[in-house]
Amino acid sequence: MRTLITNINQLHQVTSNTTIPTTIAGAEMAYIPHIDNAWLAIENGIILDYGAMSSLTDINADEILDATGRMVLPAWCDSHTHLVFAAPREGEFVDRIKGVSYEEIARRGGGILNSARKLNLMDEQQLYEQSMERLHQVMAQGTGAIEIKSGYGLSTEGELKMLRVIRRIKENVQIPVKASFLAAHAYPHEYKENKQAYIQLIIDTMLPRVAGEGLADYMDVFCEQGFFGIEETEQLLEAGWKYGLKPKIHANQLHYSGGVQVGVKHNALSVDHLECVGDAEIAALKGSTTIPTLLPGAAFFLGIQYQPARKIIDAGLPVCLASDYNPGSCPSGNVPLLLTIACTQLKMTPEEAINAVTINGAAAMELSEAMGTITRGKKANLILTHKIPSLAYIPYDYGNNPVYRMLY
Ligand code: NIG
Ligand code: FE
Repeated sequence: MRTLITNINQLHQVTSNTTIPTTIAGAEMAYIPHIDNAWLAIENGIILDYGAMSSLTDINADEILDATGRMVLPAWCDSHTHLVFAAPREGEFVDRIKGVSYEEIARRGGGILNSARKLNLMDEQQLYEQSMERLHQVMAQGTGAIEIKSGYGLSTEGELKMLRVIRRIKENVQIPVKASFLAAHAYPHEYKENKQAYIQLIIDTMLPRVAGEGLADYMDVFCEQGFFGIEETEQLLEAGWKYGLKPKIHANQLHYSGGVQVGVKHNALSVDHLECVGDAEIAALKGSTTIPTLLPGAAFFLGIQYQPARKIIDAGLPVCLASDYNPGSCPSGNVPLLLTIACTQLKMTPEEAINAVTINGAAAMELSEAMGTITRGKKANLILTHKIPSLAYIPYDYGNNPVYRMLY
């Protein structure tokens, strides 16, 4: 099956095979290479070739799409989500409007524990069906690769159920899906007085089963005061590595917790959230390959301070953006809206923000060989936009969907 897209107003993020970057960092993030008035050929879901219209000679195709006035760009790579969950938590949203903090709600047994109660009661089929519905919704907004976490089971069976749902999703969608094991998301009520026993349950019972069934790609921990401290995080990351699970952790959301440093020390693929980042965190990230991943959708929805994206980029580091789609702190996986928040609140330029969810999003899921740029041989997971005047129009046109049609 060959598809030819012609008369593309602008084809964005074009990179030749010889110069494929893993992450794009610092000042380079300000630039997105493009071709005006372009064509692109796809064969069996893979990018075959592209160029300026003046170079188009072979117009043999099963389908020809005239993209006059439209942009084509690589689909978003959303590297941090909790898309599998049982129920929304709009009651807590109202409590927070009335002044109760996210941490206080968690202390009262709401928050993650609230989600865990509901998830453990829900059967696997229903969980799968409603998660697939959510996934199709974000795919229609441009998402073309996604990471999904467990972490609302908090019991052996609950965590395995979530991870099996993620595996089924993987098997039934056209986009790449990565799974992270996040049993260390909160302490279940019955372990409140014996936290080490829960950590041992994760290490001795859950991890061997998760690894045995090949259910996870990454090991995640909510490293935060009141959740999992530095020592606990280290124990868990070391245990994950024994099964080949690379860390990808929640760090420095609510406090300067040392989470960034512990992630770097244990060779995390990424450290995510990063509302609290100062000079020590920047110093730790420099010289490491750990990708700083910002989740401003959560900061927006919780009304807490935003991540210092400028400070991180200006230090020459890469920045990745991800949605954090979850029922508590960010009930939206809408990447175009995330781009708007990144531009207006984090003062990232549209090019920086788009680099952060394409090239750097792919890198934060180890998908650089297949995703993130328009490159011959990569997957043709692409966004064909509505008729828009420029790339900057995508975050500018906030709350609206730039997608005219997705190609996979
Ligand atoms: O990334 N911070 C920890 N976990 C999620 C929120 C989970 C929840 O509230 O359900 C997050 O923000
Ligand atoms: Fe998260």
